[in-house]
Amino acid sequence: MNIPILKDANLKGKKVLLRCDLNVPLSDAGEIEDNTRIVESLETIKYILSHEGKVIILSHLGRPDGKFVENLKVDVIAKELENLLKTNVVKLDDCIGEEVLNKLKEMESSVYLLENTRFHPEEEENDDNFAKQLASYADIFVNDAFGTVHRAHASTAGVAKFLPSYAGLLLQKEIEVLSGLLQNPKKPVCLLTGGAKIDTKIGILNNFLQIADSFLIGGALANTFLAAQGKNIGSSLFEKEKLEVAKKFLIDAEKMGKKVLLPVDVVVAKQINKDAPAETLNSDSVLDDMKILDIGSKTIMNFQDVIRESSTVIWNGPMGLYEYPQFVAGTRDLALKISEMKISSIIGGGDTIDAINKFNIPLEKFTHISTGGGAMLEFLEGKTLPGIQALISK
Ligand code: 3PG
Repeated sequence: MNIPILKDANLKGKKVLLRCDLNVPLSDAGEIEDNTRIVESLETIKYILSHEGKVIILSHLGRPDGKFVENLKVDVIAKELENLLKTNVVKLDDCIGEEVLNKLKEMESSVYLLENTRFHPEEEENDDNFAKQLASYADIFVNDAFGTVHRAHASTAGVAKFLPSYAGLLLQKEIEVLSGLLQNPKKPVCLLTGGAKIDTKIGILNNFLQIADSFLIGGALANTFLAAQGKNIGSSLFEKEKLEVAKKFLIDAEKMGKKVLLPVDVVVAKQINKDAPAETLNSDSVLDDMKILDIGSKTIMNFQDVIRESSTVIWNGPMGLYEYPQFVAGTRDLALKISEMKISSIIGGGDTIDAINKFNIPLEKFTHISTGGGAMLEFLEGKTLPGIQALISK
């Protein structure tokens, strides 16, 4: 892809408007639960500072829907950035307005973090005037928010119309790794998918019919496929209106000679809580009052056999309700298997990374941990993403 990159930019003495994806999970008490996205954004910030630029950081946090929401203010992120950068980070109370403009004219510090862009409806509307105001703070725009490049918002796409624009180091790395995977993957390729929603996964499943050799499907996603095969999935979560979509994928995959593995056994319970008694059954023995909450041990072994034979594994979405001990085995045992193998492993999706962190598996054991959930899926679907397109169009 012909994208202007940060290393092409002259940063000396310049004000850089930097869009990061600092949308991190917060606990009920408002503490950061996983700072991966903040850590991954540091390289670009440090690069700009070391090349004598000043940084004005923009990010969204959560989905405040165009309104101010007290517990979605980015103060906690500013503190974490300050700790990690070991540099003063000035947090401003808005991302637009006279006061912000005046403070950024002076720029007494080298790093500023502006308030949640999504407190203004104009952000998600990709409003030109809003984007222009953001652009007016700086000399150049750097987009490093890979996790949000699938959104056509003012701070991800719109602002690029008004400033010389570049991809940051994180965005560049994500594009290089994921494009390499689409264009020249080490074969055989295995796509492991789980999680809940078929809508977010069907695009990548279909696109990977051309790329992958095998498909391993677990999580609640598998329930829709099992139901499409006419199996009783009891009272499990599934998507009734997507049965035809699932059936079509299975038929297409068979026609193309692709291996598709669904759970042959499943862990079920009648209630969802951490003390609910669980049992493992063949996937055709599920009764009406049961919920499928993990893949069973035979399925784990089947999936591990395929992973063992693969040179590349792409994984997005947990195999079960890994937050509860009775339903953790599928996600944990596959994560361990992938981490032990000398293969190219590309992992994405907030839940998958959260699970890996909970199992204390070092992230370095995987080839690439994507900071994108939806963005990684859409990129691997082969879609043109607005945040990237805006840089190319320049
Ligand atoms: C994400 O968490 O996937 C990104 O930050 C994008 O967030 P969104 O799905 O709310 O647009």
